[in-house]
Amino acid sequence: MSERISVFGTGYLGATHAAGMAELGHEVIGVDIDPAKIARLSAGEVPFYEPGLPELLKRHVDSGRLRFTTDVHDAAEFADVHFIGVGTPQVRGGYAADVSQVESVIEELGPLLTRPATILGKSTVPVGTAERLAARLREIAPAGDEVDLGWNPEFLREGFAVQDTLRPDRLVLGIDRDRPGRVEQVARRVYAAMLERDTPFLVTDYATSELVKVSANAFLATKISFINAIAEVCEATGADVRDLADAIGHDERIGRKFLGAGLGFGGGCLPKDIRAFMARAGELGVDQALAFLREVDGVNMRRREHAVTLAERMLGGLDGARIAVLGAAFKPDSDDIRDSPALDVAGGLHLRGAKVVVHDPEANANAARIWPTLTYADDALEACRDAELVIVATEWKQFRTLDPQALTSIVASPRVIDGRNCLPSEDWIEAGWEYRGMGRLAG
Ligand code: UDX
Repeated sequence: MSERISVFGTGYLGATHAAGMAELGHEVIGVDIDPAKIARLSAGEVPFYEPGLPELLKRHVDSGRLRFTTDVHDAAEFADVHFIGVGTPQVRGGYAADVSQVESVIEELGPLLTRPATILGKSTVPVGTAERLAARLREIAPAGDEVDLGWNPEFLREGFAVQDTLRPDRLVLGIDRDRPGRVEQVARRVYAAMLERDTPFLVTDYATSELVKVSANAFLATKISFINAIAEVCEATGADVRDLADAIGHDERIGRKFLGAGLGFGGGCLPKDIRAFMARAGELGVDQALAFLREVDGVNMRRREHAVTLAERMLGGLDGARIAVLGAAFKPDSDDIRDSPALDVAGGLHLRGAKVVVHDPEANANAARIWPTLTYADDALEACRDAELVIVATEWKQFRTLDPQALTSIVASPRVIDGRNCLPSEDWIEAGWEYRGMGRLAG
């Protein structure tokens, strides 16, 4: 059955969710305060890079099942189910999450809800937020008790956002234990197509649903920092962290995924989510329980510093050295540069006097906005021209498949740091390159 849905926030999460809901057969209106974004989306254009999303969006804008607005009244009038997918970034000067955008949606939408409605929060919020917002909604919504709130965390990965939205590995719904029933029925109708495919659907209380999301991200971050900590030990001993990860990964209890040692994690989620989780634990008086996350963050940030120091060692100094940094996005198949290890390394080298030329297939423009003093090249070969060192900082396919033989004639000297352990090292060494990986081959 088709539902009338609104989605607040049209970033990586919200825009994908809106298009995904239209794909499931619902009628959808996307809402954002940014008129420029809404104009582009209304024209069927995605204002960021996400594989598969432009096609999905265009299809449903054309079919009329998906439209966009800046007008909250329009959304309140049209929809019976309202998703919240706005950002919860790190606060300035602190670790906590800034939930003001979520609060604004509640404050603006709440007073317009004059008939029964369901609000489903998808944004990642500190534990305790949903309960507070539910109480606030009851105060300000004219429909009062006829307005329900559920928390329905989103686990999508950038680069796989469409696939993760349409075929999630689980659905989680946090509800008010004192008023069960209605929210779950609505969620079951919205996600009917997924539930028919036996997608696990876990219904729990608000606090658990909020904690599920941050715990999942804390676990993933911990797994990455674990292997990066082992990489540091490998570097001190000549061991190879990639072989090690393969060997321990065969144990099903451990698993090989997210054991990729390298420059560490970045992006709009993992770094800020572990910090916000620590901050919230502090407020709850259980900061000791999450003290290990400080170390997870510390190991992660050290990887960036390590790459800069390694470059300095390989070149015998950074001042005036010409370095190509391949990659600016925090991971491949994305143009997102939030907390990007690649860009941090490029900026760090630049601040120590190196002449850095950056190339990213999709993120050059975003990177130039926050690092205008770096030089940007239109392709990898142009970035590598006359370089004394090449650093592969994001594992885009076009970098993994570079021809090391051909590249030797372009660079000034064949030195490479494989910041993501993504290159076929034997081929590079055979072609005459001085190769350094992360946690391997004397990295
Ligand atoms: C993450 C979670 O995976 C997702 O479930 C959640 O909804 C949002 O946060 P995302 O930020 O898109 O998704 O990226 P992810 O694929 O998890 O990668 C995060 C970072 O970890 C990237 O910088 C990536 O390069 C790094 N990473 C990942 C490693 O350094 N090693 C690995 O083995 C895996």
